Amino acid sequence: MNLSKRALSMVFILSMIYFSPVFAQDKSNLIVVNTDLGKETISKNIYGHFAEHLGRCIYGGIYVGMDSDIPNTRGIRNDVITALKEIAPSVVRWPGGCFADTYHWKDGIGPQSQRPSIVNTHWGGVTEDNSFGTHEFLDFCELIGAEPYICANVGSGTVQEAAEWVEYVNSDVKSPMTELRRKNGREKPWNVKYWAVGNESWGCGGNMTPDYYADLFKRYSTFMGTGRPYRVASGGTDPDFAWTETVLKKTQKSPNLIQGYSFHYYTFCHGWNDKSSATQFNENDWFHTMKNTLIMEERLEKHIAIMDEYDSKNRIGLIADEWGNWFWVEPGTNPGFLYQQNTVRDAVTAALYLNIFNNHARRVKMANIAQFVNVLQAMILTKDDMIIKTPTFYVFKMYKIHHDATLLPINVTCDDYSYEGMTLPSISACASKDKEGAIHISLCNIDMNKGRSVEIDLRGTDKLSKSSGELITSAKENDYNDFGQPEKVNIEKFSSFNVKNNILKVNLPAKSVVTIELKK
Ligand code: AHR
Repeated sequence: MNLSKRALSMVFILSMIYFSPVFAQDKSNLIVVNTDLGKETISKNIYGHFAEHLGRCIYGGIYVGMDSDIPNTRGIRNDVITALKEIAPSVVRWPGGCFADTYHWKDGIGPQSQRPSIVNTHWGGVTEDNSFGTHEFLDFCELIGAEPYICANVGSGTVQEAAEWVEYVNSDVKSPMTELRRKNGREKPWNVKYWAVGNESWGCGGNMTPDYYADLFKRYSTFMGTGRPYRVASGGTDPDFAWTETVLKKTQKSPNLIQGYSFHYYTFCHGWNDKSSATQFNENDWFHTMKNTLIMEERLEKHIAIMDEYDSKNRIGLIADEWGNWFWVEPGTNPGFLYQQNTVRDAVTAALYLNIFNNHARRVKMANIAQFVNVLQAMILTKDDMIIKTPTFYVFKMYKIHHDATLLPINVTCDDYSYEGMTLPSISACASKDKEGAIHISLCNIDMNKGRSVEIDLRGTDKLSKSSGELITSAKENDYNDFGQPEKVNIEKFSSFNVKNNILKVNLPAKSVVTIELKK
């Protein structure tokens, strides 16, 4: 064969590989991963959770009491403990939410039969018997291997109450609070690092102005110092940049008092008054859910820009301690209990949120999806003695590989997902390198109907030859896992990709989340 014939056949073979149906390349979907330029660590606390005294999150979901027929460890459901361990939950925020600013912690310690009942005024107006309190929560965290994050009551509590709570939980010195703790059966302090100083103080936490809250924050934080905890100030509403500016400015000269600043963002489909059903939705609902999730990134970046101005050394963490999809409750359930199902749509938006948090790991030091069990975008749903793992659970399971890994700088160029003249970028991605040097690339195609071929240029590494992949999707966009039914949505093995000379070509199915592992 002479040279030109050989060259021609080479071109033919290459074009066959390139244009074959499996790897049909759309040149507009190009991702560059700089595998040698990682600087930031993706804190495993980005994979945090939130358990509020709301609906059936605590009671029935996590805690059934020691006398329950449902198998339990000191009242905490064994099936839930086992399932949660699968996703390696890093941190759990408790007791709220709005509930936190009505909660008086001393109601929840001591013999359960002697604890007073209160009314949960925010969530369904039901009786709260305080049987799940500080000891039970910290026991739960130890059982699932997560760090606790406690939200102190600023709205209706006192500085003394908050200070004594930190002392009760964290001090080893003989004092009335530590004696009380010992009397209640706990000798050693728990040393809880993370404390929030109020929740949504702009709204359910007291309807405060940012000026007033910033002063109050400093006052509370001054007296919540036992064990030098990591104290988190309440943020404003998600587009309230003035609140961020005020709190950051007023605490700038007291860096010892503020270690974190909170940010909440929910996806409401079309808006607070038009949330959509969690399972019965059309493409218009799907598109707007994606759109309103993606808007979060620009909000986050604006808050980060303000933080960079007042905290140029990047000492204060942005703590996204409530996030997720908020749809209408399931028909027939208490509207105050916020119980919703969870579909492939939730898996896709969970991946979008997590990709965004990972890619902003320089500033985002914790995030807590709302909420753990039976409330909003939950990991687990329970019905009597049954549980199901949601599609969102499986995203958290798939993304474990990013916990404490090094974030790799990534550049995504992609085509649009179009719907009725509106467009969104079709692909979201993030990449990290773990301690053993394995590279993980997570990709998400938000297009409900059309797959995408993606080419990923892996720069700055020796040849990567070993690879494996995982996929989350399902036949229908509103598929979900239901009680007593085989699971429709889980993690599947994924092999529709090819890596050659550090160019990774992936056929990303419609409405999917994929993670590829590459090793030398
Ligand atoms: O997660 C439900 C509620 O949403 C929380 O209690 C509150 O902080 C937020 O508004």
